[in-house]
Amino acid sequence: MSITQLSPVFTLLAVFAFAAPAHAAEPDELLNSKCSGCHARTDDGLQRIKDSRRTPEGWDMTLVRMAQIHGVKYAEGERAALIKHLSDTRGLAPSETAAWRYALERTPGVVESPEDATLAEMCARCHTYARHALQRRTQEDWLKLSHFHLGQYPTTEYQALGRDRNWWEIASTEVPELLADHYPLDTEAWNEWSAREHPDLSGTWRIAGHAEGEGPYHGTVEISAEGEDRYATVATLNFPEGRTVVSEGNAIVYTGYEWRGTADADGKTIRQVFAVGEDGNTLSGRWFDADNDIDGGTLTAVREGPAILAVIPEYIRAGETAEIAVHGVGLDGEVSLGAGVDIVETVSADGNIVVVRAMAAGDAGAGRRDVSVGDASASAALAVFQSVDSVRVEPANTIARVGGNDGPLAKVPAQFDAVAYANGADGDAGTDDDVRIGYFDATWSVEPATEIAAALDDVEYAGEMNTATGLFMPAAAGLNPERPYSTNNAGDLVVKATVDDNGSEVSGTARLVVTVQRWIDPPIR
Ligand code: HEC
Ligand code: HEC
Repeated sequence: MSITQLSPVFTLLAVFAFAAPAHAAEPDELLNSKCSGCHARTDDGLQRIKDSRRTPEGWDMTLVRMAQIHGVKYAEGERAALIKHLSDTRGLAPSETAAWRYALERTPGVVESPEDATLAEMCARCHTYARHALQRRTQEDWLKLSHFHLGQYPTTEYQALGRDRNWWEIASTEVPELLADHYPLDTEAWNEWSAREHPDLSGTWRIAGHAEGEGPYHGTVEISAEGEDRYATVATLNFPEGRTVVSEGNAIVYTGYEWRGTADADGKTIRQVFAVGEDGNTLSGRWFDADNDIDGGTLTAVREGPAILAVIPEYIRAGETAEIAVHGVGLDGEVSLGAGVDIVETVSADGNIVVVRAMAAGDAGAGRRDVSVGDASASAALAVFQSVDSVRVEPANTIARVGGNDGPLAKVPAQFDAVAYANGADGDAGTDDDVRIGYFDATWSVEPATEIAAALDDVEYAGEMNTATGLFMPAAAGLNPERPYSTNNAGDLVVKATVDDNGSEVSGTARLVVTVQRWIDPPIR
């Protein structure tokens, strides 16, 4: 099977993963009837299937593989019903996914932090490290995964970083041991988690978060139960500059906490990948445009207070007076914004949003302050600063992809944010004690990253930076006769954000590689 043959099925994946299962048969019966033809029944389950645990996306990838490579067919709703059943009975506990959620949330520009150097070299050069870190298997089953790689993709051991070592020997001895050690099938965390009841998430929730490239937003969502682990949502969200979005959607909760939702907002289909907190009272994660997952934002939500979700704006300059809104649930009582910040007056207070006029003393030291309203508190929720001493661009390293031009894949843009920092006590920028002030508006530009990029005029050809929003839109795919060797519109760029800090300019940079299309884009990259 060639790589191009694989791609059409993967493009359907997201649709299936988020669709509501329509199947009525008992899930165990369905699993047996679909799978036991090849996976023999044993006393503790079907062979292979009983030997691993996965996320909903991980199970979906396996189900797709069973269809593509082994010819399994799913009637309407069956694949979704199997994902639900397998995720509920053979999922991962919240603590087992916590470090790797970026892969599920499709967070742009993440540079991974592998736990194990050998596994990083052996297993994270074709796909993410998170792909295996989000599975749990017996050692024997991890070994079978190595066998699958070589069996299905015989070139595996001859590809980059496979040729300088005896790849197969390591993959069949040391690697399964390491994997079973780091990511074992049987864990206390899963025993404990899988015995719990799934919480009912119905109710009114308050939301706050950061819309990437846009700024802080807040709002409310009504969540109502529509059957077991199924919900309908109606949200009203307030974005910067008065943009209000009302969105309606629905969601399935897998494994008692893996919220996967779809909502219509402003004509866009939005996907939600959230984790329900262990007490069933918080949601956190990321949402994104289904057609363009770099367009999204982070979210935290809480149902019962007293609790603080966000402080907007999240910073105040020493010597200035500003209106500060504290967002949360059950906010009642005296407001404190920390040392050196006085409350001049309360402008409004309704339990969910408390707006105060605050004054930061001229000599207030730079740092993040704990904020409280009555019994609700949030640590380091407000930054006080004297001046912007440095700017960091987020993400610091990322990729955009050419596309469009009548080809099958759309362009993949890149969105940047400028984050202002104050120097910490050491007076130096770029050190651990820097104080994160928060997101600032910036003027954006791109420069060639290398001499070659300059010689090939990548800035001209690779795409267009929106100077006001930090959105980089790559150029069209395909050969470009205007370029040397008619090469494509790839580029190697430095992205520069310039923040105006009361008349003085402070800049930060990031690296942007503009490259070719991603032809295969599975749910876990
Ligand atoms: C027509 C035969 C066939 C059917 C039916 C089948 N499988 Fe498989 N399955 C295989 C083979 C062969 C392998 C080993 C090679 C591989 O991993 O692709 C496998 C491997 C697996 C694995 C291990 C994959 C891994 O990541 O290492 C899982 C889990 C699995 N199957 C689940 C299922 C489920 C769930 C079903 C039912 C929906 C199913 N299979 C139906 C043939 C089948
Ligand atoms: C040479 C490239 C390459 C290397 C090296 C590689 N993989 Fe893969 N891996 C693939 C491909 C290709 C697939 C199947 C297509 C896909 O899912 O994108 C895959 C699939 C997987 C899956 C999903 C299987 C499923 O259906 O559940 C896991 C988990 C995985 N690899 C883990 C590993 C581990 C662990 C290692 C190290 C031993 C490794 N990979 C090394 C290319 C590679």
